Amino acid sequence: MPSMMMKSTRVTPAMRRTNVARRNVAVKANVADFADELLKTANHITSPGKGILAMDESNATCGKRLESVGVENTEENRRRYRELLVSTPNLGEHIGGAILFEETLYQSTKDGKPFVDVLNGAGVLPGIKVDKGLRPMCNSNGESWCMGLDGLAERCDEYYKQGARFAKWRSVISIPDGPSRKAMVDCAYGLARYAAICQNSGLVPIVEPEILLDGEHDIDRTFEVASQTWAETFKFLEDQDVLLDRILLKPSMVGPGADCPKRNTADEVAAATLRMLNSRVPPAVPGIMFLSGGLSELDSTLYLNAMNQSPNPWHVSFSYARALQNTVLKTWSGDDAKVAEAQEILFNRTKDNGMAQLGKFDAENTSVNSDGMFVRNYQY
Ligand code: 13P
Repeated sequence: MPSMMMKSTRVTPAMRRTNVARRNVAVKANVADFADELLKTANHITSPGKGILAMDESNATCGKRLESVGVENTEENRRRYRELLVSTPNLGEHIGGAILFEETLYQSTKDGKPFVDVLNGAGVLPGIKVDKGLRPMCNSNGESWCMGLDGLAERCDEYYKQGARFAKWRSVISIPDGPSRKAMVDCAYGLARYAAICQNSGLVPIVEPEILLDGEHDIDRTFEVASQTWAETFKFLEDQDVLLDRILLKPSMVGPGADCPKRNTADEVAAATLRMLNSRVPPAVPGIMFLSGGLSELDSTLYLNAMNQSPNPWHVSFSYARALQNTVLKTWSGDDAKVAEAQEILFNRTKDNGMAQLGKFDAENTSVNSDGMFVRNYQY
């Protein structure tokens, strides 16, 4: 019935000008002011053969990783390790953006050059993790919710001024602990509010509802939960008037749980993941930038390569942390004499995945590490 139809609540630039004039107040810039830039940012990150270097581990997580190779978790050691990553020669050949933790966004090389300038100089756009991490969800069977909406608009404005051009918010869905309706709705609502706020501050939001690898479930169960999660996420993105052609998605690949006895081939994982994406994600979304989630360096590249064997509507690529950094970190292990060797490994990992983005990874002639990196209840 027409009388029951909901009116669109999207605020047009004209409505905004009228509102501002009526209230006679200065308001912050909004999404209309950033429309062109958001598109430019998304296009840059989704250039052929490119992906994202995720290096946004919180201080606690980065500390655990550093301590695993015998390096103390100090601000200076985090800075030294991140300097190695951002100053890797030719990083921009296969990397369009790097996600940073807040501390890193404001850090510089030991010679005093801001990391933001180093990245921009290499053609890599700086991004920023803006969520404040996971907390236990009450009345649940051990599920989590993601904090960080309070003050987010103000923080995003500051990050933009500091040079960030895109953002990340990671919420998680656990299959063995749920997934309950309330966890799924909270995850989708948080991501949508965050995405709308980012776009109004000039940051392209990466929307990341990670389906954790934890569990004994098979690939069909992952498919079902991933399909529900993305359906819910898009409902809320629409409610928040998020511009779908100016976001990036960061899904988990659709595979079996880490403890499922039945393992699947790369082709099966790629087919299930693409079937899920095709049924849920509008072609207007420019980029699907997968997380590695505990997959081995080799599997994350093989699965991506398998997904790019035939055309699909999006740029299907990577936004890996562990699957890009693992061997790099072990090789470096805090030793300045190993920086160049570790950087070469990083460049080769970005190249392998850049080739996989094009469907041209040479799986026959690779020495990429195939050790799994799954960690139960991984925090970020
Ligand atoms: P992993 O590739 O280690 O799962 O990292 C995911 C992530 O969200 C990093 O930004």
